[in-house]
Amino acid sequence: MTQHIKISFFSIFMLCSFLQAGSNGETLFKQCAGCHGPDGHNKAFGKSGIIAGQNAEVLIESLKYYKETEFKTHGTSLVMSKQVKNMNMEDLLDIVNYVSKLQK
Ligand code: HEC
Repeated sequence: MTQHIKISFFSIFMLCSFLQAGSNGETLFKQCAGCHGPDGHNKAFGKSGIIAGQNAEVLIESLKYYKETEFKTHGTSLVMSKQVKNMNMEDLLDIVNYVSKLQK
């Protein structure tokens, strides 16, 4: 009986963190929507690709690149770099999870 209750609590906990992760990505994406569009279909500054529905692995590689590279020139890559510089890996993964599921 106690075992059963413990398992139920655990599944509720897992479900909550799962739902929370989903909405976190959606909330964080509001910071990106200004340039990439609310549905991820804008070519930011006419420079970026369309990010909606891109493969999650490709997206995380792009974001890691912008986060970890020191851009010396004031180009569009620096603009993008500033968006993710101070985000942690968890937030980036939440965003990627959200963006990769947007309709292409
Ligand atoms: C101020 C405008 C701006 C904001 C806000 C912004 N981006 Fe970007 N993003 C750009 C530009 C410009 C590029 C193209 C950069 C380059 O020339 O390398 C880009 C490129 C990208 C790329 C590479 C896409 C590709 O395939 O070409 C990804 C992925 C991306 N942004 C995701 C995000 C995410 C996620 C956020 C929110 C955390 C975000 N961007 C916020 C302007 C922006």
